[in-house]
Amino acid sequence: MIRLILFLLTLLCFSTVSFAELRPPSDGTNAPSSSFPSTVNGYQPKWWKEAIVYQVYPRSFKDSNGDGIGDLKGITSKLDYIQGLGVNVIWLSPHYDSPNADNGYDIRNYRKVMAEFGTMADFDELLAGVKQRHMKLILDLVVNHTSDEHAWFVESRKSKDNPYRDYYIWRPAKDGNVPNNWTSFFSGSAWKLDPTTGEYYLHLFAEKQPDLNWDNPKVRNEVYDLMKFWLDKGVDGFRMDVIPFISKREGLPDLPPEAMAKPQYFYAMGPHLHEYLREMNKEALSKYDVMTVGEAFGVTLEQTPTLVDERRDQLNMIFNFDAVRLNRDGDRWRDWTLPELKAIYTQENQALDVHSWNTVFLSNHDNPRVVSAFGNDSPQYRVASAKALATMLLTLKGTPFIYQGDELGMTNYPFTSIDQFDDIAVKNAWKAMVVTNQVPADAFLAEMRKTSRDNARTPMQWDKSPNAGFTTAARPWLAVNPNYLAINAKQELSNKGSIYHYFRDMADVRRSSLAFVYGDYQDLDPANPKIFAYTRVNGAEKYLVVLNFSTDAVTYQLPDGIKAGQLVISNLGGTNETGDTLHLKGWEARVYKL
Ligand code: NOJ
Repeated sequence: MIRLILFLLTLLCFSTVSFAELRPPSDGTNAPSSSFPSTVNGYQPKWWKEAIVYQVYPRSFKDSNGDGIGDLKGITSKLDYIQGLGVNVIWLSPHYDSPNADNGYDIRNYRKVMAEFGTMADFDELLAGVKQRHMKLILDLVVNHTSDEHAWFVESRKSKDNPYRDYYIWRPAKDGNVPNNWTSFFSGSAWKLDPTTGEYYLHLFAEKQPDLNWDNPKVRNEVYDLMKFWLDKGVDGFRMDVIPFISKREGLPDLPPEAMAKPQYFYAMGPHLHEYLREMNKEALSKYDVMTVGEAFGVTLEQTPTLVDERRDQLNMIFNFDAVRLNRDGDRWRDWTLPELKAIYTQENQALDVHSWNTVFLSNHDNPRVVSAFGNDSPQYRVASAKALATMLLTLKGTPFIYQGDELGMTNYPFTSIDQFDDIAVKNAWKAMVVTNQVPADAFLAEMRKTSRDNARTPMQWDKSPNAGFTTAARPWLAVNPNYLAINAKQELSNKGSIYHYFRDMADVRRSSLAFVYGDYQDLDPANPKIFAYTRVNGAEKYLVVLNFSTDAVTYQLPDGIKAGQLVISNLGGTNETGDTLHLKGWEARVYKL
């Protein structure tokens, strides 16, 4: 017995460099592993740092009752599919009761399931199914605003002396007009005049999404209570919607002219943000072992550690938008370059020390499809580039977040008419720009084909049956991409060379070594316009990743005397090429052990 204890103590002492050897091989359960108290390459090991997260947008995932809308039972029926991908955390986009002005990001009742998605019993069944498979579930916490149909707002708008008045941000007119020049992210002013009391309320998003007044302690306590309601059910954390906007600037000053193009940087990081997040931790989060990730639209890299440094008790990590929005200038598409993308990853790594943690993502329900935006969705390169992107997402430093359908290489939708869109952002922008003759319809649609959020929201493509097996209804809520006959899960599951299976293999690669999680990151060739080559190093464990981000065949001379060693994985089949010169085909991706 004493010898056993001594042996265990020795293991603990020597686990600072790596405890990869001690970890069980991937057994298909996807169980998050770390629980050792020591550091790895300077980092505190945490399950959420080692996780691979899969985002489910319930409306578009799987319809179980034939109403054309995805639902919770549909997700439960596909848990084996999700688990088979090698991910271990599911982020569920909002599933709460909502009138759906913004597809659930406008919540009417935080303790009720959206009728279209099912019942609380369905939620409990989903959570149990996730737990049975040793996975975890995080929810979307949308508390910068509610729906205007939430009971708090229904009361708030009734009169100026209603007890709920101060739950929201009301202001009288200024010189007969809106209280300030703030703009909504969904076009137009961020203020709406409410006839009952003759005052304006603030809505940074749609008119039906009034902003909560976080300076009111009653609001904050309501939020902590609703968080505990879900945490007590056993959920494992939250993705926090536009959380840096909750604290508004003192006196609500006008947007200065230079802030107009990107108002998110003006709205974010208000004076009490840190205080409120610390309070949220104290009152709710600290009582549970959870993951938190803030949607940090409007947060700069320099500000990031103030939110995620573990010694500050605020958030575990945030989504930084620099990479995913590299293809945007304001809201408009711009062509991006590989050196720009690499520079962002280097800057992120430099901005965060061992006390802060990052996320890695290039897609979600608010952005176009990853293979269309960052890869090449032509028939010739779609599969290779989707696999190359998966290789990158699963070998960079930070917790990877994968959006549903990206594991199949689903692409943008070929929109040709405004009637094909559902998104309120698109419809409002159409009214503001096209109906007013400021932008021609064709130009607007061409732009939306590249940037619209609906590109990511078309239903999951399960098989070749009508509507891709997403629903038995004649019409799903949003049309299925016509390419579903060629791109669907059934086809990919039966084809060992598919993106789905490659993704699974890459997830195993990531899990096989803590170097991919905690290891140092080094970009070997920042200026190269076609090749992204980097190392991940944790003590003696060293890996080299080489990605060809072009359609050209490239003869690549590895810099710094580095020589490719043993091939771990490649997206275009095996190769026995080693040494310092590699011959890469278009969109080829390789991972080597050095
Ligand atoms: C960010 C969400 O991701 C997006 O879908 C939503 O429209 C806004 N926040 C408002 O909640």
